[in-house]
Parts: sequence; structure tokens; C-alpha cells
Amino acid sequence: MEYTSLGGTDVKISRVGLGAWQFSDAWGVKDYGIAKSIIAKALELGVNFIDTAMVYGRGLSEQFIGNALKELNVNRDDIVIATKIPGEFLSPHDVFKAVERSLNRLQTSYIDLLLIHWPPCWHHIPTCVYMKALERLVNIGKVNYLGLSDYPVELVDAARMCLSRVDIEALQVRFNLAERWAEEEHIPYAEENDMTVMAWSPLAKGAITGKYTLEDARKLQDLRVNEPLFQPDNYPQVLELANIVKNIASKYGKTPAQVALNWLITYSDVIVPIPGARSPQQAEENAGSVGWRLTYEDWRALDEASRKLRITYVTF
Ligand SMILES: NC(=O)c1ccc[n+]([C@@H]2O[C@H](COP(=O)([O-])OP(=O)(O)OC[C@H]3O[C@@H](n4cnc5c(N)ncnc54)[C@H](OP(=O)(O)O)[C@@H]3O)[C@@H](O)[C@H]2O)c1
Repeated sequence: MEYTSLGGTDVKISRVGLGAWQFSDAWGVKDYGIAKSIIAKALELGVNFIDTAMVYGRGLSEQFIGNALKELNVNRDDIVIATKIPGEFLSPHDVFKAVERSLNRLQTSYIDLLLIHWPPCWHHIPTCVYMKALERLVNIGKVNYLGLSDYPVELVDAARMCLSRVDIEALQVRFNLAERWAEEEHIPYAEENDMTVMAWSPLAKGAITGKYTLEDARKLQDLRVNEPLFQPDNYPQVLELANIVKNIASKYGKTPAQVALNWLITYSDVIVPIPGARSPQQAEENAGSVGWRLTYEDWRALDEASRKLRITYVTF
């Protein structure tokens, strides 16, 4: 495993993390035993960074992680837990209440990285009001570092202006070979400001592996039923790109998932993909996306091919 620093801190995180949204209705891993075996496999292979959120399974994901880390006797200092507070929980009293519940579910006395999952767009809570509540949690020692997820960079700037003694160490953004809007502003911003970019849906929710035909994709019964990438306007383009990913993967004796993740890792040293896994085998494969690099020529071939995609989010 390779490691990098979390933002401007001296905390070391693995170059690939483990996404834990899978432990929820949305993705369907609701059997604790399977979740535990996924976590165990990732940790065994050197992944030391798990991404979860309060809303994943309405607390189920955090609960599974807390239980698993206890049962696996993981030393608290050896693991970096990122969780996220939704935009709906950002009035100051709710910030404290939500984090207390999260700590209970995770069975820990502190959260390594607390991100705001998305801005409070429906409740209009002023940015500095909730940022100051979050900073208080850092000062008190319940949270070590702060991050922002799905924030436009203008709002990242505004949020940072509210903080007195701490800074934003990580941004979470959608970034994968098929969906690259984050490279316009977020990645350069993070590079300039010494922040980690946690790339979510780094496998385009599995689409980029090309393992589902258009017909198979239509039969998926999880959150992908409504996922734009899997709709007929988009999916054939993604499959074409996936074929190129597959061809390159076979040259290296790697899998398409490993190549798709390696492309992100190679893109910038601030990028840490957080693929979700539905089995220990997938966790193992994803951990194998680091420790090697695509050649410049192959990285560029994927870059060029992916730029040809024209993904639409107007699906009805
Ligand atoms: N901040 C945010 O707003 C936000 C949003 C979304 C996600 N996230 C985080 O990012 C993580 C990852 O994103 P995601 O779950 O949306 O998408 P993803 O990581 O791109 O895709 C995950 C899915 O791809 C398939 N897969 C995983 N590894 C594979 C492999 N090696 N080979 C083939 N297929 C594989 C699995 O589904 P199948 O086996 O069923 O195909 C898995 O459920 C989440 O767990 C969550 O922690 C954050």
C-alpha cells in the first residue's frame, strides 16, 4: 500500500480508501458479517482510511464500522475514520447532537475527519454559524480535522473564512473517468491549498468496469435504477470507454477497476479514490489499484477517450 498525507496534516492515509455507503439500503450490504469481512480485507491490505456518513443506511454504516473495528481489535490510532454530517443537521445544536450520535455508533471518542456532506441548501443556515460550531468540536477534541463534500469552491472559500484556528483539509467530489467536472475547479483548488481530494464514485458506480451489458444494467435493482450513467443515453458511451479500460488492463495483468482507479491516482497526488466494495474480493481488487502506475501513454489514451464522452443528466 502507498500512503499520503491528509491535506496539510501529518496524518497518513492510504492512497486508496474504503467507501462505506455500500452498508445501506441504497447498495444492499445489510448483512453485518459481509460488511465486517469487507472491512477486514481492506485493513489487511493496508487500507487505513474508511469513508462513511451519518445518512448511509441512517446510521447503519457507521454502526457496522464501529462494531467491526472493535471486533477486529483495531488500534484506534491505526485507522482514519471520515464521516459526514448532512446539510440538514447544521443548526448549531444539531451539529453537537448529530456528532454525539455518530460517535456512539462508531464507538469512538473522536472522529478523524468530519466533512459536511452537502451545503444546507434547504434551511439557509448561515455558513459561519455552522462552521463555528464545527470548529468548536475540533477545539474540544471530538473531531480532529474538517472537510467539505459537494461544495462549490466559492463556498469552500467562504467557509474557510469563518474558521479561526483550523482549516479545511479535504474536499469530496464526484470524479471518475466518465464524470470529470471536478477537474475544472476543485482539483486545482485542492492542489493549490494543500487539501486532499477524496474522489467518490471513482468506478462510476461500477459502470467503468464494463461488467454489465446494457441489458444487465437495466436489471440492476439498487440505486443504479435511477443513476444517469446507467441510462440508455449514457451507458453505451461508458461501455465504449470501458472497453478501452479493459484492453489496457489486460496489458498490465490488472483488472478494469484497478486501471480506472490508477488513472485517478496518477492524475494528481492529492487524489485519494474511495471506492465502495460489496465483497471482500472487490475490496482486495481495489486495494491492488496502487503500488504501480500506468505509463504516460496509457494514461493519455484513457484521458483522450474519456474526453469524448458527453454525459447527460437529463434523463426524463
Ligand atoms: N460525498 C458524497 O456525496 C458521496 C457520494 C457518493 C459516494 N460517496 C462515497 O464514495 C464511495 C464510493 O462511491 P460509490 O459507492 O458511489 O461508487 P463506486 O465506488 O464508483 O462504485 C461502487 C460499486 O462498484 C462495484 N465495484 C466495486 N469494486 C469493484 C471491482 N473491483 N470490480 C468491479 N466492480 C466493483 C460494486 O457494485 P456491484 O458489485 O454491485 O457492481 C460497488 O458497490 C461510497 O461508498 C461513499 O463512501 C460519497
